[in-house]
Amino acid sequence: MRNEAIPNLTAFDEAALDEAFAALERQAREAAAALGGEADREAFRLEWLGRKQGRLNEVSGRWLKAAPAEAKKALGVRFNALKAVVEGLLDAALGAGPSDAALQTEAIDITLPGTRRLLGAEHPITRTMNEIVAVFAALGYSVGVGPEVETDYYNFESMNFPPGHPARDTQDTLVIAAQERKPLRDRLLLRTHTSPVQMRTMEQQPPPVRIVIPGKVHRNDAADATHSPIFHQVEGLCVDTNVTFSDLKGTLDHAMKALFGPAVKTRFFPSFFPFTEPSADVQISCIFCGGKGCRKCKDSGWIELLGCGMVDPAVFAFAAQKQPAYDPRKISGFAFGMGVERIAMMKYGISEIGSFYAGDMRFLGQFA
Ligand code: PHE
Repeated sequence: MRNEAIPNLTAFDEAALDEAFAALERQAREAAAALGGEADREAFRLEWLGRKQGRLNEVSGRWLKAAPAEAKKALGVRFNALKAVVEGLLDAALGAGPSDAALQTEAIDITLPGTRRLLGAEHPITRTMNEIVAVFAALGYSVGVGPEVETDYYNFESMNFPPGHPARDTQDTLVIAAQERKPLRDRLLLRTHTSPVQMRTMEQQPPPVRIVIPGKVHRNDAADATHSPIFHQVEGLCVDTNVTFSDLKGTLDHAMKALFGPAVKTRFFPSFFPFTEPSADVQISCIFCGGKGCRKCKDSGWIELLGCGMVDPAVFAFAAQKQPAYDPRKISGFAFGMGVERIAMMKYGISEIGSFYAGDMRFLGQFA
């Protein structure tokens, strides 16, 4: 329905104004009553309230301009009332909801099956890391973390790798660029092991300490079936009075049985780490053949799994710079570090380390 054109107003007394505005209101109400869907409502809004072409704009332009000064106030009051009515009509039309036609096209078929949402699952690395941590949590260990971007001091020097020492070559890594102006100890690198968190922990608290530290580490190693330049470790540190190598053996023997089953045996081989003395590599009896010898254990019946040892007095001396209670004449301790990927590969029979990082749902879905 087209609205009539806005007439010119010639009389401006109250009665004339009342009549003129009443006529407009009637037209607006009639138009609003005929509104159907969204498109109709928009057309109505433009027709009446449009900033340039709208009827109300025309009224305020033509009538208000023509009105003598003494009539302007009375005209303004009526104009505002009409505007409120039109806006109210528009709101009411909105509340009326969509037209029947719109409802037809938007109808939902409730007999269709719903959208299935896949449940998330722990990544096998996260799961293994949590299992290892839980074994030690049950022994009273707390959990700590440290930064992945580490200083030379924490990663190497305080762990008893002196500057220029060849032991550093065993753990090559990426270093952050343009730090030549800093003293060596403050230069940043990607940590090669979780061991620096041993020192960060000891600097924060006096002994006794029992802590496990899960985390990501980086090494300049070529990737192959069992090596990745980024991998994960769980570090352990126990410091107290009278901690002995027997405590270390008993703790790790228990942990390996908890992780791989009570039939698993452990044995300790002499090894070297700058931050432990004596140091050992821990082997477990082959979980695939039970120790008889197979392809997996290269017919030896044993599989090497982690490094450990008694905390070197030199490491305690670095800790004692901040916490004098780390006096190697009074306390002792052990530490260990294990590769999470290696343990997960053993537990789940995975032969390619790259499977963990490929993001292939067919692989990861098996752990759901
Ligand atoms: N940090 C050593 C590594 O990455 C492992 C280790 C930790 C060995 C603690 C002994 C004690 O190889």
